[in-house]
Amino acid sequence: MNSLIVGNWKMHLNTADAETLVRRLDMHIPKPLNVEIVLCPNFVVLDTVKKLIGSLNGKEKFNIGAQNVNQNDEGAFTGEVSPVMLKGLAQYVIVGHSERRIHFGETDDAIAQKIAACRRHKLKPILCVGENLQERKEGLATRTVIDQLSVDLSEITKSELKKVTIAYEPVWAIGTGEFAKPDQVEEMLRQIKLFLHEQYGEDSKEIRILYGGSVDEQNYASYMALSDVNGLLVGGASLNYKAFASICLGV
Ligand code: PGA
Repeated sequence: MNSLIVGNWKMHLNTADAETLVRRLDMHIPKPLNVEIVLCPNFVVLDTVKKLIGSLNGKEKFNIGAQNVNQNDEGAFTGEVSPVMLKGLAQYVIVGHSERRIHFGETDDAIAQKIAACRRHKLKPILCVGENLQERKEGLATRTVIDQLSVDLSEITKSELKKVTIAYEPVWAIGTGEFAKPDQVEEMLRQIKLFLHEQYGEDSKEIRILYGGSVDEQNYASYMALSDVNGLLVGGASLNYKAFASICLGV
């Protein structure tokens, strides 16, 4: 299984800035790599980024992901974007990011439906799970993550599971510059793998697991060195073409 590096641009970059970033990444990553690179722009620039990648012959180098999706195919949901609209624009969708859970009240039940909606329309979900600082301090980190996973994955079948990527992102390490120690990540991934194996048996071995949270060009190698880590979800550093390209080239 090849590694996956996801750049989550969050609510940054207008059309012109997004184009500049893509052109620079394209120059700094001159040929397709063994790693799969997924760029996740905001909805407004998704189409522009897709077309630009196509015109730069970057289709081999970059895939596109959305940062969220609504669980319904259509309807009176002002401001939302459905999986039907994303089909053909994005291959991946970030689902259940902690910023969506915290700022927009996204529940695990809603996340489970979003994962199912993605699979209904052949989009590949990148499911984010992770504990907050309080939960870690109270020794509840593993319980929190396993509880999230058991609900979030409850609406899909065993065979669809292979199309899901899981990103372990401790909330206290996101956008804070405070990164998790590799042995903390290793232990959590061991627990996640154990849970997946108990639930889904051998099929679970095909699920990619990423680490995310203040990943940058200085620390990425220490996470990639962990045997259970299949890639990275990069936020802040993905807006910097030099940092993101050097992570992709170094993996
Ligand atoms: P960060 O964000 O790399 O800026 O911590 C990671 C994420 O939110 O996925």
